[in-house]
Amino acid sequence: MSLNLVTLLYLVASICFIQALKGLSHPTTSIRGNIFGMVGMAIAVLTTAALIVELSGLAGQPSANGMVLVFIGLLVGGSIGTIMAKRVEMTKMPELVAFMHSMIGLAAVFIAIAAVAEPYAFGIVAKGDLIPTGNRLELFLGAAIGAITFSGSVIAFGKLSGKYKFRLFQGAPVQFTGQHKLNLVLGLAMVGLGLVFTFTENWAAFYAMLALAFVMGVLIIIPIGGADMPVVVSMLNSYSGWAAAGIGFSLNNAMLIVAGSLVGSSGAILSYIMCKAMNRSFFNVILGGFGGETATAGAGGGEARSVKSGSADDAAYMLSNAETVIIVPGYGLAVARAQHAVMELAEKLTHMGVNVKYAIHPVAGRMPGHMNVLLAEAEVPYDQVFEMEDINGEFAQADVAIILGANDVVNPAALTKGSPIYGMPILEAYKAKTVIVNKRSMAAGYAGLDNELFYMDKTMMVFGDAKKVVEDMVKAVE
Ligand code: TAP
Repeated sequence: MSLNLVTLLYLVASICFIQALKGLSHPTTSIRGNIFGMVGMAIAVLTTAALIVELSGLAGQPSANGMVLVFIGLLVGGSIGTIMAKRVEMTKMPELVAFMHSMIGLAAVFIAIAAVAEPYAFGIVAKGDLIPTGNRLELFLGAAIGAITFSGSVIAFGKLSGKYKFRLFQGAPVQFTGQHKLNLVLGLAMVGLGLVFTFTENWAAFYAMLALAFVMGVLIIIPIGGADMPVVVSMLNSYSGWAAAGIGFSLNNAMLIVAGSLVGSSGAILSYIMCKAMNRSFFNVILGGFGGETATAGAGGGEARSVKSGSADDAAYMLSNAETVIIVPGYGLAVARAQHAVMELAEKLTHMGVNVKYAIHPVAGRMPGHMNVLLAEAEVPYDQVFEMEDINGEFAQADVAIILGANDVVNPAALTKGSPIYGMPILEAYKAKTVIVNKRSMAAGYAGLDNELFYMDKTMMVFGDAKKVVEDMVKAVE
């Protein structure tokens, strides 16, 4: 395979990846984006496989062996990926992503170890020569970031799943005195050992640095509450990209550098967008503790206040008599898997002449784009779905705002100075003429705060599981 052809194919794959990211930025183009991603990845993997076969031939081993190993890898990895992606529920997506990042991190570590042990086999140096200093620096950075990504992602996976009894996998933050100082000391020691390896090619320093990086990954993630894990997963996504790019430099593989940089920068931008939409600084999330407050404040506390509550039939009556209805979906709708029922309700109302729109908050649910994916799954027409900035001006004219399993994203406390969510942009559902709120109880949402909206005179609470309640509304509307 000529070098020019390899470069050309890698260039085509890179363009596909850029088109994939562009396509994924909007629901209407997301399918096209996914197809670009798949085609790009197929080109990248097949070109690299062909290259491996050729290189294994050069290293004096039979090409057939290289080919068999490559295909076994593709088959095993591809099958596991397909099964997991088919089985995963939408609300468990952050867990799957955390698992995949841990694998990318581990792959970066293994490649770095192999390259340090056998640089000749990777074409980094001629047989018997030392690895150049620049390559050692890249290997150190790639391996360190990979190890932090691996152990950090394992902890994030455990915290997200909430199934394991092990203390470090609990959602509540693990904090102790001197934690940040310990992290600083270990971090400096890790960098010091990495530099010793870079300048002396000392193996012991490399392995000690790796061990510290694995420990650092755990220590960085344990003080962060389970509820903040989506931001952490996005940050680890970014780390995994940089680890891959670092290893790409060592292996002189342009594809790995481009793909790694795209993942690294898009993950960083996503973390920034998520933090901005929650009005929290990145450091506030990383320094942790938020999830722990949630657990205690979530109980609600204080004296019981009265709310107006009604049945699904009452809500259906109000909806059918409205001219304009705005539906606000939230985390509870995703948990209840009520998206198809909501779509049916909206369809019935539209046939009756009601103008129905959906309002999407950027961090509604538990992962970026959660609500968009959910509504797309139910085949809700895209022209009925509006982002927060585009719909907020319309709530004041809406006859009914119906909030399904959402809480924080419509909490007017965000307008009050001193509130933990002060400054978080919200969907202004409180401005609608009438508000219907469906949730199971008066329990707090993710931020653990009471919601003044539930107590307003114009608000009617409809308690119950979102799916059951919406299905009852559909029957009543009929
Ligand atoms: P939340 O504030 O978490 O509120 C969800 C509400 O749904 C809860 O109050 C819960 O009340 C209700 N609920 C749960 N299960 C239900 C069911 N089966 N049927 C009906 N209702 C149900 O959700 P939100 O408004 O979507 O806000 C998302 C929050 O997550 C924000 O605070 C955001 O900052 C945070 N967050 C989001 C992301 C991303 S990227 N989306 C990342 C990190 C953090 P009951 O228990 O009373 O039913």
